[in-house]
Amino acid sequence: MLSEFPQPEPDALKHSVSLVAHIKEQILAAGGWISFADYMELVLYAPGMGYYSAGAHKLGMDGDFVTAPEISPLFSRCLAKQCVEVLTELDNSVVLELGAGSGVMAADMLLEFERLQCLPAEYLVLETSADLRARQAALLHERVPHLVSRVRWLDGMPEQPIRGVIVANEVVDALPVERFAINRDGPAELGVGIQADKLVEEMRPATGVLLKSIELLQSESGLLTESDYTSELSLRLPAWVASLNDWLQEGVVLLFDYGFSRREYYLPERSSGTLRCYYRHRAHDNPFVWPGLQDITAWVDFSYLAEAAQAVGMKVAGYTTQAHFLLAAGLDEQVAIETESYAGNTQDEQQKQIELAHALRQLILPGEMGESIKVMALCKGSVLAPSALAGRDMRSSL
Ligand SMILES: C[S@@+](CC[C@H](N)C(=O)[O-])C[C@H]1O[C@@H](n2cnc3c(N)ncnc32)[C@H](O)[C@@H]1O
Repeated sequence: MLSEFPQPEPDALKHSVSLVAHIKEQILAAGGWISFADYMELVLYAPGMGYYSAGAHKLGMDGDFVTAPEISPLFSRCLAKQCVEVLTELDNSVVLELGAGSGVMAADMLLEFERLQCLPAEYLVLETSADLRARQAALLHERVPHLVSRVRWLDGMPEQPIRGVIVANEVVDALPVERFAINRDGPAELGVGIQADKLVEEMRPATGVLLKSIELLQSESGLLTESDYTSELSLRLPAWVASLNDWLQEGVVLLFDYGFSRREYYLPERSSGTLRCYYRHRAHDNPFVWPGLQDITAWVDFSYLAEAAQAVGMKVAGYTTQAHFLLAAGLDEQVAIETESYAGNTQDEQQKQIELAHALRQLILPGEMGESIKVMALCKGSVLAPSALAGRDMRSSL
């Protein structure tokens, strides 16, 4: 497989070798084995070394994968318009974006807030990667220099719980997950050990909270009854959702991610799980390929996310597909605004039309992001969920 992938530059390879050495040290210090979640945490977020923490390009056509805000500003404009519904309902409200990637969504949302004459007092960003934070600041200074003073990067949780909207696109699928297997001998946990000086997958009998969670899934009719079944679950998700609840005084959390309900997640035919690795726009399922140079993600169990939110008192106010959300949020109107300036006569305009049609296909077609990406709205206080969540209410599927 590796021979089919574009080879990394020598510096990047050196970087990956250093990260692997660091991971091996951690494995040896832990007695020869670490959980997959700990491995994922290290390869993605080890300070200065992990995929997100270090200097690789990551997002966009020159990187490893594209996200909806990278595909077209139409995504962020539709989202901004929905946020305005909440911002106008709550006094002194702000927007908090989690995991802002290249910063392009922040730039496009700020421009749309300005066009709609509804700029929030502050646009807060909580970004764990120092490298991405620097890239976000540079992009915002270049694209929206007159609005950048409204943007404030947080070093941790907000000083005071906020009133407003928390938005996160493709952040939940970047949270470390545990991997497990159902074998003839029972549930096992997949982790990482060292053999012949190489990082390898090693199984151990599942124990503790992981075992309880697997047993809970098995007790739900029809789930995880097959043997030779491998999948994922995120034991860190409930704590993460609880922190969102702590950060919000009143308002709405809007989460966009690849995922589905629990019943669809643990279908018998999805017997190799949902783990996906991205290297220069090649998707595969081997998390040991050039550690630190590729992204690793797992799809989100939105039923689990909803339960975690309800457990801390948040209301699951909406759950739908990205396509339904964007269409109900006025995507067609945004397309009309975008195209009114060009008649399609010049070569440049024709090119723009082609690019726009391609972007729309990626955003809304079922085989692309349209149905794979879901949107969940979590509400705190008496505020209403943005109207586009009502486009197709799928909460009964959770
Ligand atoms: C797949 S990228 C998505 C970036 C961007 N939202 C987009 O749609 O283009 C994941 C982002 O989440 C950030 N991230 C990961 N874990 C995080 C956490 N616990 N809190 C905040 N950001 C996080 C990563 O550094 C990165 O910016």
